[in-house]
Amino acid sequence: MNLAEPSQPAFRIIDRLNGHARPDSSAEIAAGLFAPQASISPKYFYDALGCRLFQAICELPEYYVTRTEAAVFDAHRDAITRAAGTRKQLVDLGAGDCQKAACWFPALDPQRYVAIDVARGVVESALAEFAAEMPHTEFIGVIDDFSSTLSLDGVLGPEPVTFFYPGSSIGNFTPADAVNFMAQTRRYCGNGGGDRSGDSGSGGSSNRSIDGGGASTTAAGSGLLIGVDLVKDEATLVNAYDDAAGVTAAFNKNVLNHIKRITGAVIDVSAFRHIGLFNRAESRIEMHLEAMRETQIVLAGQTRTFKTGERIHTENSFKYQPEAFIALLAAAGFSRTTWWTDPQRHFGVFFAQP
Ligand code: TRP
Repeated sequence: MNLAEPSQPAFRIIDRLNGHARPDSSAEIAAGLFAPQASISPKYFYDALGCRLFQAICELPEYYVTRTEAAVFDAHRDAITRAAGTRKQLVDLGAGDCQKAACWFPALDPQRYVAIDVARGVVESALAEFAAEMPHTEFIGVIDDFSSTLSLDGVLGPEPVTFFYPGSSIGNFTPADAVNFMAQTRRYCGNGGGDRSGDSGSGGSSNRSIDGGGASTTAAGSGLLIGVDLVKDEATLVNAYDDAAGVTAAFNKNVLNHIKRITGAVIDVSAFRHIGLFNRAESRIEMHLEAMRETQIVLAGQTRTFKTGERIHTENSFKYQPEAFIALLAAAGFSRTTWWTDPQRHFGVFFAQP
């Protein structure tokens, strides 16, 4: 392809946020901060600095999540590819710079790649690069917040779809919301069908690969390829969300600077400290900002006093037993699941089909 004068656009962008990017965020932030249990939505983590701090988290020695998922992908690339099939439509949920999906391009060889993310600029530059290199793949960027509603109407063709949701982002939903979200991907996965019998993952670091007897390299049907952090010892979990260098603490506290900027709130950020704890009863890491001394937050004419020790809840990261996650997939309409893990069983990669 002549890059200087492309004969046709190499990719297209469907911007669903245009003009209504953040409707009344101040009201939403105030509602959270003035609720009996104060909270801030985790979506406010990701201003420019927050995005960079999050990238730094992913490289921390304590944050095993990113590198363990990558190791599972690498170790089981062939089996995962046989399960998911090739030449499908690959839908990347929260694509960002598309790097995680790009590791799958050679194996999955998607006929269409759909990157969904709120960050238009990041998606655009990634798609421009990949589209120039991969003329046999159609590249589409959908600029949207899919966390409450996933809409791909008018974007997908009739071909089978592989949804890609890595990074244990599903853990940041409550289990009920996770089921609801995965059920929305299920709506685009057809009626199931396929010629393979159910395979409710038996676990282990070298799972059976699906092999329904077809000689084709392309498995039938659509599915969801999803990375999920697993329950493990408490120290490993807590250290991953409360690292020695204080990067996660900086990331969590930065949410206060961000909401100060967008709402004009008065907040003494130095009065708060980062808390990362494992709530075993709920099987989740919780992140909070805890007042180290009595302090006030003023927002939209309202004042709230935080007593020493009082907390603002900022995020959950649910951790699953493999069987529990397979049950969530089933509740979302995915009855056939195979999964892979690392030798320490720290992280699970699941491929689920109707
Ligand atoms: N979803 C990942 C997780 O829960 C990444 C993530 C989201 C994260 N928010 C975070 C990691 C806050 C650390 C801190 O692990």
